[in-house]
Amino acid sequence: MNILIVEDNPNNLELLENYLSDSGYEVFIATNGKIALQRLNYVNPDLILLDVLMPEINGFEVCEKIKSSKKTKDIPIIFMTALTSKEDKVKGFKLGAVDYIGKPIQKEELLARVKTHLKIYKYQEHLEKEVKNRTEELTKKNLELILLKEDLENINNTLDLKIKKETTLRKKQEQLLIQQSRLAEMGEMISMIAHQWRQPLSALGTITQNTHLRFSLGELNQEYLDKQMLLSDALTGKMSKTIDDFRNFFKPNKEKHAFSIQAAIQQTIFLIDDSFKSNSIEVVNQISEDVTIYGFESELSHVLLNIITNSKDALLELKIGNPSITIKTEIGDKYIEILISDNAGGIEEKIINRIFEPYFTTKDSYNGTGLGLYMSKMIIEQNMGGKLSAHNVEHGVEFSICIPISENTNE
Ligand SMILES: Nc1ncnc2c1ncn2[C@@H]1O[C@H](COP(=O)(O)OP(=O)(O)OP(=O)(O)O)[C@@H](O)[C@H]1O
Ligand SMILES: [Mg+2]
Repeated sequence: MNILIVEDNPNNLELLENYLSDSGYEVFIATNGKIALQRLNYVNPDLILLDVLMPEINGFEVCEKIKSSKKTKDIPIIFMTALTSKEDKVKGFKLGAVDYIGKPIQKEELLARVKTHLKIYKYQEHLEKEVKNRTEELTKKNLELILLKEDLENINNTLDLKIKKETTLRKKQEQLLIQQSRLAEMGEMISMIAHQWRQPLSALGTITQNTHLRFSLGELNQEYLDKQMLLSDALTGKMSKTIDDFRNFFKPNKEKHAFSIQAAIQQTIFLIDDSFKSNSIEVVNQISEDVTIYGFESELSHVLLNIITNSKDALLELKIGNPSITIKTEIGDKYIEILISDNAGGIEEKIINRIFEPYFTTKDSYNGTGLGLYMSKMIIEQNMGGKLSAHNVEHGVEFSICIPISENTNE
């Protein structure tokens, strides 16, 4: 431990030096204030013993200077003085001294005070260091936390953005899918209307031809004209009813309602009947018992139409002899199962798992979009809480539509 003694009286100085050196302290000395301040530029004592009464610069002034320098301000200072006045002590403490030692110097008192203050000083230094270290650590940790928080916020932001982008993309794709499948359905509808119109159109053609012939033969009379007129009216009436039927069929149901499964199936068969008959496809209706379902009727009819049309496509493409489609139902406690099967040879096992994927088709782009079964699955499984599946049977494929029968139709 280093101690600087500032004392102008040589006797005192020697005494002090001896006491302290004997106790194991390293001692620096200065014989006046000026020298003391100079020395402090080179040495770094742990404690200063400072005489108050000195020529030129007195102890108080030296103390002030030491306390005003950043390098020395923390070194504890003990004044040594014969002065016992209260004012002087107060002044010394105000200037930053830590203690007083009375003169003449008592060895025990000196050593005791020096020891105590050095101890306090060391503790304080240690404490300050500790606080500094801890503060630095804390600042570092804080900084890390801030960086971490920023990282997290960044991740969150980009995630949010990504999710938003994905959702809009998905919505757009879904809309596109719906539009495309509507277009495909419209194409289907026009071809079915064409089939339904074939017979009345050719009948109308015959009427005009016959009327023309009669006129050229001079055999056209009022009675004949009236009869042909009635016939034409009936035919055009039938044609416009066909359009109404299809329009109703394709009009989306706005609200859920209770409807008969039997009726929904029969209506679908009725619409396709003409076009199937003209291709000699037999539609076998084996529905045993009726069940009332609560939901969107036209959606279910669309699914039936998709499945039946697929069978028709397969039957015609493969030119199957005696083409036929069978529809039956099986009623369970909670579910009704509608089974639609054909004799078109089935679906290859390696693609049967893919037929419900959007855009999966084995047909050329003119004949198929690959959306029919995808939309059907969405309707049955997402809108109706049911299940749509397909598996091969003996001569073809069988589709199964499972729909829950709701007890509570107000649900
Ligand atoms: N009854 C069936 N027999 C044989 N293959 C079938 C049958 N039903 C479906 N498929 C196969 O499943 C594929 C997908 O059918 P999906 O109805 O989804 O599309 P698509 O009929 O090709 O086109 P579209 O969108 O016009 O319906 C068909 O291309 C066909 O290969
Ligand atoms: Mg299809």
